[in-house]
Amino acid sequence: MSDWVFGYGSLIYKVDFPYLEREPAQIEGWARRFWQGSHDHRGTPEAPGRVVTLVPEAGRACRGMAYRVEHEVFEHLDHREKNGYERHRVAIRLLERGEMVKGTLYVAGRDNPAFLGPADEADMAEHILAARGPSGDNLEYLLRLAEALRELGENDDHVFELERRARAGTR
Ligand code: SIN
Repeated sequence: MSDWVFGYGSLIYKVDFPYLEREPAQIEGWARRFWQGSHDHRGTPEAPGRVVTLVPEAGRACRGMAYRVEHEVFEHLDHREKNGYERHRVAIRLLERGEMVKGTLYVAGRDNPAFLGPADEADMAEHILAARGPSGDNLEYLLRLAEALRELGENDDHVFELERRARAGTR
């Protein structure tokens, strides 16, 4: 048995799981935001990093990567995404074959204990520049995500603005 999983953050560029198929994909009605705290990958419980989650936003599309995986893979993904993320069922548009499929994504809701919420862009960029955790620098997460989104042809103002500010290293 297999299922599709939609990745919109590190799941786009850090593929540490086996998959049967992979295809650029899009979901509708969600926006990607650096509003989730990371205690276990890009920060620590004392100094959490900032990573992406999804927030509902009507009329907005979010591009990422869809993978068709065996059910066993969810055990690994649940563990990897354990810091506040929960599985959610969505309709996924596969962009190459132009097909809709049902699948799963990991979303960290506003009520999870690691949720940080919105902040000033300059403050978010400084936060990302300063944080690091067991998976590496928070900055690397931001830069690799921005690069992966460019490769997907995604124009994500929020991510690109944080990238610009972080690269400049200042306000
Ligand atoms: C995802 O990539 O789909 C979830 C968020 C993350 O792990 O960065």
